[in-house]
Amino acid sequence: MKKALPFCGRQLATIAFPALALGLASCQNAPTQNGSTAATDKTAPITTNAPSTGTAAMTPRRELMLHVMQRNADQLWNWTAYSASRSGSGYASPKTDEDWMNAESDALTIVELTKLLDTDEYRIDDADWPKLVANLRAAVQESATAAENKNFEGMLAVSDKIDEQCVACHMHYVPGIEVRPK
Ligand code: HEC
Repeated sequence: MKKALPFCGRQLATIAFPALALGLASCQNAPTQNGSTAATDKTAPITTNAPSTGTAAMTPRRELMLHVMQRNADQLWNWTAYSASRSGSGYASPKTDEDWMNAESDALTIVELTKLLDTDEYRIDDADWPKLVANLRAAVQESATAAENKNFEGMLAVSDKIDEQCVACHMHYVPGIEVRPK
């Protein structure tokens, strides 16, 4: 991932993601490298796509999966988790505007992670890799769009499909990690 603002890039790569929305907000308020556009229009996205000059080491793929992908997927799945207890039962579901915002952020974070998976740093050199990545991306994008539209049924409908894409890729390259007690 090429980032003109190394601080933002580092945040995206290493910090747990409830901070993402905040992180992006602070990125947008940060001055651009040539100090121009952001000052005039604070809402304008920073579109600079100059090659990164950052030299920070990338997190190894397994660590990225374990600490960033899994954590973030769990957060996303928590929104569609079903629970039953004496006091009642039902889906967690985003409720407040902030919840919906966070749910969309959780999904969009995984969309961005799939782009990382397509970089030389993380990809496995195999023709099926980009397809498996794209399948996950499509599923989480669907969830992000549903969250943006406050469409819980949409989020619920795609929730298992997201998991299936994780499993499909793992079964292809690292089947051992999917052998867990059911
Ligand atoms: C395109 C392929 C691909 C997709 C999609 C994918 N993974 Fe992975 N995952 C891998 C590979 C390859 C590894 C092994 C990493 C390594 O050792 O380099 C891995 C490892 C992991 C691990 C570490 C398990 C362990 O015990 O070592 C976790 C956790 C994980 N993935 C979670 C997920 C989740 C959750 C998703 C879906 C939201 C997902 N992955 C989607 C390819 C993928």
